[in-house]
Amino acid sequence: MCSNLSGSIWHGRQIDRIVTVAWVELDEAIRGRRTHKAYGPDQVARETLEELFELARWAPNHHLTNPWRFRVLGPESLARLKASAGPEAAAKLERAPTLVCASVVLSGDPVQDEEDICAAACAVFIVLLGAHARGLAGYWRTPGVLRTPDGAQAVGMGPEELFVGLIHLGHAREEKRPPERIPPADFVTYLP
Ligand SMILES: Cc1cc2nc3c(=O)[nH]c(=O)nc-3n(C[C@H](O)[C@H](O)[C@H](O)COP(=O)(O)O)c2cc1C
Repeated sequence: MCSNLSGSIWHGRQIDRIVTVAWVELDEAIRGRRTHKAYGPDQVARETLEELFELARWAPNHHLTNPWRFRVLGPESLARLKASAGPEAAAKLERAPTLVCASVVLSGDPVQDEEDICAAACAVFIVLLGAHARGLAGYWRTPGVLRTPDGAQAVGMGPEELFVGLIHLGHAREEKRPPERIPPADFVTYLP
């Protein structure tokens, strides 16, 4: 929607209107995104995933380290992950038709690693928000198996990578009610 904004200064009034619409829609998208745990069977199309990953790379990123990694699970990697998880946890890996393992490459420098983990988390959020904007459901899940060496190996995460989330994507089977959020006054301080 905003792609036609650049270079159109003489269309000032028109631009104001377009920006306002985009802004309202962005607010609604942020508020309306929900964690979904029940999905229909249809996988997310490869082209849609590519759009989401293209968006993810625009996450804020100090020193432009591009630290995020996304691995879309296929049948073999999912089978390996389920075998590593054990029967009970494996069942929960079948909830969504498309699973994306998000991780961050660590450098060993504590400050850079802290910043890169934050950047990777932003990239994951972009994927979730972009999916929501396309009418898809998502879920940021952190199953314990991906914190084990076996689980990491099942999806090809190297020793220099830290697991960030197993992004579940697909089509929602039901509406989700938004969980309560505390008001900004409870967590914002305006310093003198
Ligand atoms: C880093 C991170 C890890 C999460 N891991 C899990 C998880 O393992 N299991 C789960 O049920 N939800 C997980 N969530 C999702 C939150 O539970 C969810 O965002 C929260 O309940 C608020 O709901 P909403 O996303 O619909 O606003 C995770 C979220 C984040 C940011």
